[in-house]
Amino acid sequence: MNQPVMSGVAALNVPAHVKHQKLINWVADIAALTKPDSIYWCDGSEEEYDRLCAQMVAAGTMKKLNPEKRPNSYLAWSDPSDVARVEDRTYICSATREQAGPTNNWMDPAEMRRTLHGLFDGCMAGRTLYVVPFSMGPLGSPIAHIGVELSDSPYVAVNMRIMTRMGKAVYDVLGLDGEFVPCVHTVGMPLAAGQKDVPWPCNATKYIVHYPETREIWSFGSGYGGNALLGKKCFALRIASNMGYQEAQLGGTGWLAEHMLILGVESPKGDKKYVAAAFPSACGKTNFAMLIPPKAFDGWKVTTIGDDIAWIKPGQDGKLYAINPEAGYFGVAPGTNDKTNPNCMASLRENVIFTNVALTDDGDVWWEGMTKQAPDHLIDWQGKDWTPALGTKAAHPNARFTVAATQNPVIDAAWDDPAGVPISAFIFGGRRSTTVPLVTEANNWVEGVYMAATMGSETTAAAAGQMGIVRRDPFAMLPFIGYNMSDYFQHWLNLGKKVEAAGTAPKIFCVNWFRTGEDGGFVWPGYGDNMRVLKWILERADGSSTGGQQHLFGTSPNYADLNWEGVDFTEQQFTQITSIDKDAWNEELKLHSELFEKLAYHLPQELVDTKARLEKQLAA
Ligand code: OXD
Ligand code: MN
Repeated sequence: MNQPVMSGVAALNVPAHVKHQKLINWVADIAALTKPDSIYWCDGSEEEYDRLCAQMVAAGTMKKLNPEKRPNSYLAWSDPSDVARVEDRTYICSATREQAGPTNNWMDPAEMRRTLHGLFDGCMAGRTLYVVPFSMGPLGSPIAHIGVELSDSPYVAVNMRIMTRMGKAVYDVLGLDGEFVPCVHTVGMPLAAGQKDVPWPCNATKYIVHYPETREIWSFGSGYGGNALLGKKCFALRIASNMGYQEAQLGGTGWLAEHMLILGVESPKGDKKYVAAAFPSACGKTNFAMLIPPKAFDGWKVTTIGDDIAWIKPGQDGKLYAINPEAGYFGVAPGTNDKTNPNCMASLRENVIFTNVALTDDGDVWWEGMTKQAPDHLIDWQGKDWTPALGTKAAHPNARFTVAATQNPVIDAAWDDPAGVPISAFIFGGRRSTTVPLVTEANNWVEGVYMAATMGSETTAAAAGQMGIVRRDPFAMLPFIGYNMSDYFQHWLNLGKKVEAAGTAPKIFCVNWFRTGEDGGFVWPGYGDNMRVLKWILERADGSSTGGQQHLFGTSPNYADLNWEGVDFTEQQFTQITSIDKDAWNEELKLHSELFEKLAYHLPQELVDTKARLEKQLAA
């Protein structure tokens, strides 16, 4: 037991602190299949991080940035074909197609295993297999879960150290036989003897595969973001959403894994509240999570628990408690600047891995929107000379930063609390240039679930594919739900019944910061001004304010219900982004019907009834 064994390909070299035989056997099996040259067990230390980064600098995968400008930071440029999540190559291989549902790609698990077996056979030849142990959530928290990623990418190993609690301590929690989610990742480019590597190995064939029954993740062919950092979208959303649902199916309370930021708001009187907010990718989630209240809100503080994912469970007192399962931010860089998100810019001063941003002549980074004026010369994300006259993007629109949450100057004191924080309100928001008002409070939990279920959003660069078209993105979970979407709605409704019965149900709100005016520009000033809406939401959530007007879909504020101090925002502009255009809503409801037709299998009757009621009210 626990002795160095020969896998038949490379020495396993199991460190003495790893005592989990099932894990050791699994590493041996994967090594026998993928045939790496060597196996390296990550310990998560700083020394290891520095060493792997230096190794990638030598290999040409990363550049070390000028330490005077950006201390201890690196820049990686991916292959131009590997720049975003590949949703059309992402599969939920549950036992039946119905369990994955119509919004997910599905393949029979046995058939997928045969396909992947062929692809993974020998896929790590000439490379090192990194064993990356990680915890999603504070180590040992009752809400946290453990994963182990086996990857042939050192870029993955160092990013996972920032994005998760990665390293040796995970084995203490695992002990001899603890549960872990096995994650296997390869860039899919084996090296023949003597073959020179490329800076960003990947493969034109890509598979991002989840087996919910056995809670396994297998990823082939991409080294980028959510395709490769398997703790994030694959585990913390797709597998975890399924785990939370299964727990309820087995008679437990069940829990939620959501595509939500979590933020704290403290009033000048010291009253502290937390909200969780779901937005599709690249809709300003990081900006909202790090919001700086405008001057009129002197004494108010907004703090971050998480910027992307929330795991939510009912606590002993019946309230819903949330943790951020991640430990870092993998945020979209373009558009981030000292105005849109000063806290984020401060987080990025040092110890950052940048991917696909541009390199300045003095060894720093730049991206579109970072400064009003672009530098005269850059090296773009594809390694080419760039000047503004070229008219091309110097940074890829989905260029990213990876940074530890602890670098955020407004990190919440409870961000690492194993018990999580109590949620007072859920907020759902899409990117809609028309139709959807600035903010609406749902009349009740069921109507809130309806609003979230029928959410639409204009697509962005975070996923490969066409940009700017409206797609239905229920709960901002369309690319991330690990089971049947209609069953997921039912899971929300069931959980709602429990918290409503306990009198602890958070209120549900829908927001839209993105309505445009005649000139095509956004009408809502955004950034810090979102605080004006947030304050109204919190007052409605705790019942301290009754300010608002009831309309077809719920309650929205009157102009006078929001604090407009310090901003020049007229009542006419307010009306422009809160008005409800009946024709537009008739069209919108037709799209809800289309969605419901697609999701007809197991679609909760309560949602069908809600739609019928809204249609009737609209026609009245
Ligand atoms: C992300 C995404 O990277 O949602 O967070 O795409
Ligand atoms: Mn996201």
